[in-house]
Amino acid sequence: MKERVFVTRSIPDAGLRLIQEGCDADIWDGELPPSYDALRQKVRGVAGIVSLVTDRIDAGIMAAAGPQIKVISQMAVGVDNIDVAAARARGILIGHTPGVLTEATADLAFGLLLAAARRIVEAVDYIHAGKWQTWGPKTLLGADLNGATLGIIGLGRIGQAMARRAVGFNMRVLAYSPTTSADVAAAVNAALVSLDQLLRESDFVSIHTPLTSQTQHLINQDTLALMKPAAILINTARGGIIDQAALYDALRDGVIGAAALDVTDPEPLPRNEPLLTLPNAIIVPHIGSASVRTRDAMAFIAAQNLLAGLAGEPLPHPLP
Ligand code: NAP
Ligand code: GLV
Repeated sequence: MKERVFVTRSIPDAGLRLIQEGCDADIWDGELPPSYDALRQKVRGVAGIVSLVTDRIDAGIMAAAGPQIKVISQMAVGVDNIDVAAARARGILIGHTPGVLTEATADLAFGLLLAAARRIVEAVDYIHAGKWQTWGPKTLLGADLNGATLGIIGLGRIGQAMARRAVGFNMRVLAYSPTTSADVAAAVNAALVSLDQLLRESDFVSIHTPLTSQTQHLINQDTLALMKPAAILINTARGGIIDQAALYDALRDGVIGAAALDVTDPEPLPRNEPLLTLPNAIIVPHIGSASVRTRDAMAFIAAQNLLAGLAGEPLPHPLP
């Protein structure tokens, strides 16, 4: 008999078909994620869950599922929405989707860097507002990438992919990543430095760490104050790594030059979020991995992890 699983949203067919063939799958068909209460109801008696970054999978959800649950397969690389310790205490396997989204996410991070440096969003708005009357020698002047310094916080898979892009633009690359070896850094032409040095010397700072108790509000009033007045901050990791109220003050008061964010806290941002009023803040709705091929690959891996966990086999991509 096929095992029962709950899939918290309709994921791309590349993974969904495998899941439907191999399992008795209940697939949430809402555009929006299930509420916490709906999730608790839906997981009762399942052997596996396919989750997304929008689902809080805590001890309460695991308890509601029951002792037969074997595997949580997250269609994402970050798992800060899952209580990993609670899952491990119950012997529940956790799978995720590292690697396949690295290049797409670095593409978006670099795109945000360019958009903020060259004020692309402001320039589009300028035309739509009917302000384009001539070529202006001092109109919409931005920052050069050539010869500038990029500071990467977290030189893991996506951080390294970001460094490779920066080298192609003739940037100097610094990285703060305490457990990364100098050899790994050297392979992407990055120099390992302290967080203080990185913040003081970088023209662009891009965040690529997971959200953990160590990285929560790593960027705050004090660390923002170390940055250059024209510096541009890019975050495609997790919103909680930045103290958003402190970022708003820093952007408003010219402590730093601009920010470009794919991730915020909370998500979605409320319409009255102060950051949305600032011309020097570019915000997009968590689309780092949102390319067709990447999302297909993520869905496929999520299905593989789920099926392996149900079969009692090692997951192809377990959480380390
Ligand atoms: P990864 O390969 O594990 O890289 C993360 C790096 O950050 C690792 O080198 C890690 O070191 C380092 N790190 C951990 N704690 C740190 C700290 N306190 N200070 C400095 N560096 C620290 O992960 P990845 O695949 O590059 O993904 C990184 C994160 O990006 C994910 O966790 C996720 O939150 C986010 N993400 C977002 C999107 C999006 O759609 N916007 C898409 C994909 C990923 P250790 O290995 O020693 O821990
Ligand atoms: C997306 O945010 C991911 O962690 O994969």
